[in-house]
Amino acid sequence: CGIIGILGREAVAPRMVDALKRLEYRGYDSAGVATLEHGHLTRRRAEGKLKNLEHRLEREPLAGTIGIGHTRWATHGRPNETNAHPHAGKRVAVVHNGIIENFNELRHELQGNGASFVTETDTEVVAHLVDHLMGTGLSPVAAVKAALPRLRGAFALGFLFEGEEDLLIGARRGSPLAVGHGDGEMYLGSDAIALAPFTSTISYLEDGDWVVLKRGGLQVYDETGAPVNRVTMKSPASAFLVDKGNYRHFMAKEIHEQPEVVGHTLAHYVDFAAERVVLPDLPFDIRTVQRVTIAACGTAYYAGLTGKYWFERFARLPVEVEIASELRYGDAPFTPGNLSVFVSQSGETADTLATLRHAKANGQHVVSVVNVPTSTIARESDVVMPTLAGPEIGVASTKAFTCQLVVLACLAIAAGRARGNLSEDDERRLVRALIEVPRHMTAALALEPEVEKLARDIAKSRDVLYLGRGTSFPLALEGALKLKEISYIHAEGYAAGELKHGPIALIDETIPVIVIAPHDRVFEKTVSNMQEVAARGGKIILLTDPQGVAEAAVESLATLVLPHMPASVTPMVYAVPVQMLAYHAAVIMGTDVDQPRNLAKSVTVE
Ligand code: G6P
Repeated sequence: CGIIGILGREAVAPRMVDALKRLEYRGYDSAGVATLEHGHLTRRRAEGKLKNLEHRLEREPLAGTIGIGHTRWATHGRPNETNAHPHAGKRVAVVHNGIIENFNELRHELQGNGASFVTETDTEVVAHLVDHLMGTGLSPVAAVKAALPRLRGAFALGFLFEGEEDLLIGARRGSPLAVGHGDGEMYLGSDAIALAPFTSTISYLEDGDWVVLKRGGLQVYDETGAPVNRVTMKSPASAFLVDKGNYRHFMAKEIHEQPEVVGHTLAHYVDFAAERVVLPDLPFDIRTVQRVTIAACGTAYYAGLTGKYWFERFARLPVEVEIASELRYGDAPFTPGNLSVFVSQSGETADTLATLRHAKANGQHVVSVVNVPTSTIARESDVVMPTLAGPEIGVASTKAFTCQLVVLACLAIAAGRARGNLSEDDERRLVRALIEVPRHMTAALALEPEVEKLARDIAKSRDVLYLGRGTSFPLALEGALKLKEISYIHAEGYAAGELKHGPIALIDETIPVIVIAPHDRVFEKTVSNMQEVAARGGKIILLTDPQGVAEAAVESLATLVLPHMPASVTPMVYAVPVQMLAYHAAVIMGTDVDQPRNLAKSVTVE
């Protein structure tokens, strides 16, 4: 899941571990490094957290000045030491992100040539393939060049060679890989955050590229093997301090940063004085768009589901929101000239990226809403609408989600104006509401002590239900996802009106039911659904505003009272207590909040 490579001047193992720590946020379940000790490939690997690898290195230090390192999120084979990267043949060690789809076929072929495999991973075939090619007399560079076309799937690779003290090779197809330029040193990294302690001068490999690194410089080649130049840029990553500040977890810090980063995102899309939305120039006419498709995964998908309500209301544009992994292999017909919007924090999610390419090939205008402006999804889009949330380190997305909501709302408002569905006054009213969001979020954050108390009840539960209508429905889904992913408590989100069609069978006195019900035009309907829960003994936790409290008239276990605000912005603000509830439940459960088990931050595999 995380790759680092260093061509250095001093011992690189401790530096690689430091870099891998910066990639911890991506989630992983084992780690390892390889260096050359007196020219010989030498590896240290460990199951579990990086501190296990650090202990291993304390007991058996490595002195090599060139190396590759990796944190692994298991795809093929259990997360144990044997399956941890780097994998090695006699002449080469390899680290890999992604999946080699034809590994089985290659494995049989290589076994036929006498290779013996010791792991269950797909990566090991790459080591054996390059090893085999070198055994036929090819140089390391020629062997990698010959091996790459034989690999199917999406990957980023880093290679270190026996006896080659001044050579690292990196390759990228699908999964991202960056090159860092240092002073007499060179680096490989799966993102700029990993390289931030060493350098802020970065080049990103394009899809299909591979790169030969020496201490004195580098040469990039494209898929056809032709030498190419890739732009070098100053990475913004080093400007951000990737630490927890005074918080116990990155997630807590990121929840609390929301008023500020939502403010930054707003400032990018809104002219505060004129109370108007300002978008980048669109290379197409939004008035001629007939239909919008939004595709994303996980939390970003729920942001997309929320966006649907806004596009349909503000712009009267029909919207389809699709889970990227479904859209990608589905048969959804695209009419050329329509709009597809891709939402992704990382901008690297494999399914979302594949869907983007699919939509592009089908003549769609492609807009992406991404938090990493240098990401592949950003680079392949016709228009990029960045979320300015700053690096999000906690695996469970929080601030990126609320910033995604802000951007989608702005896009929907702009579309509504352009299509004549919103008047200038409507736009002003909606923008005024957006401008108030950071202030309401601050008020929502002040509910933390109450939320923490409630979390104690939640932490005792086996199952939790979240209900909402309208834009509160996707937030109910997101609330359930947040709780599941970090506290491991089973939770489901439902459209409040759908409860009676099945899930109501689950209700008894042991089940907390979290009802997200701002006093909006569907409030009364949600209250009726809440009555149905109360009548069956369900423990209601109500999230509403003062008017909602006055009118709810349902006995609830607890009520969290948020400020009154226009319905158009409740999802951003109500997200805050929903996130805090999951966070505190997880803290009480004692889970690894920032790196929950089995999850990865940036999923570059299908
Ligand atoms: C992973 C993360 C989720 C995230 C999803 C989509 O599963 O654990 O938090 O929502 O990927 O990621 P993206 O970077 O595309 O927003």
